[in-house]
Amino acid sequence: MYTQAMDTMAREGGAKLEKVLRPEEQALQDRFDARIDAGDFIEAKDWMPDNYRKTLLRQISQHAHSEIVGMLPEGNWISRAPTLKRKAILLAKVQDEGGHGLYLYAAAETLGTSRDQMIDALHSGKAKYSSIFNYPTLTWADIGTIGWLVDGAAIMNQVPICRCSFAPYARAMIRICREESFHQRQGYDSLLTMMRDGTDAQRAMVQDAVNRWWWPCLMMFGPPDDQSPNSAQGMRWGIKRVSNDTLRQKFVDATVQQAQVLGVTLPDPDLKWNEERQHWDFGAIDWSEFWRVVGGDGPCNRERLAMRVAAWEEGAWVREAALAHARKQSMKEAA
Ligand SMILES: [Fe+2]
Ligand SMILES: [Fe+2]
Repeated sequence: MYTQAMDTMAREGGAKLEKVLRPEEQALQDRFDARIDAGDFIEAKDWMPDNYRKTLLRQISQHAHSEIVGMLPEGNWISRAPTLKRKAILLAKVQDEGGHGLYLYAAAETLGTSRDQMIDALHSGKAKYSSIFNYPTLTWADIGTIGWLVDGAAIMNQVPICRCSFAPYARAMIRICREESFHQRQGYDSLLTMMRDGTDAQRAMVQDAVNRWWWPCLMMFGPPDDQSPNSAQGMRWGIKRVSNDTLRQKFVDATVQQAQVLGVTLPDPDLKWNEERQHWDFGAIDWSEFWRVVGGDGPCNRERLAMRVAAWEEGAWVREAALAHARKQSMKEAA
């Protein structure tokens, strides 16, 4: 999901000037450009421009952080799931997200940065993660809504990354997208059960959750195209394949019908079918809220980061034990 990360940096840092290349570097750069133009995939050992490496490292590591921070709002409900079936599904889903984090950290490491460095950037607040996970999960209906809308938006964002020019990222995304579609369906199924077989109170709970998650989900696609100065470079490099606004529109178009089947109202009085555009029009997004949450002042930013830091510190003995075991095994093998 999580291409928004690239765009947030632009606002903070601004565009960097291209450096002047030596002739041998220029030859490498030309070959790289030609490969990108031909739709080739770049592998970790291939030559790549510094900015391409940096941009990917930032995007993949922030994507990895989003996966593991994203485990927190849902993990909150594992012990309170209403049935054994829902508990097993939620456990599997949250475990998947941990796995997504692992694939992505591994893909990012091929670019030459260690896992410890990336974790350090997360814990110090230098690296971002998707702003959506800074919102609280107040009721069980939030869990279904996250699956339906948050994972739904994530799929929309992530499917084009399966064709990203950097092969290790693209390969990780293919596996991840398969699992994301299960996440979306289990969420929708959970909400459908509450809407069809539930009580009035449960239906009201679903509507309330949808009211709270709808707008933050639209923000997941990142700022509008005309405010995303890094997007053009991302497109040029084949990292980003589809623009923020196009993805957001696709998500709205796909979701309106699903909401009708579910029997919930999307909280936007301006939502209406535009015959001319053949798309759904929707109301203005409150970007000041988005920037506030990205900047660290959302409802749960501090809580999420504190949980991650505590998990890291409390897990130190596991990492030490695993390293000691690995050392012992290699000594045995050497002997
Ligand atoms: Fe995921
Ligand atoms: Fe997911």
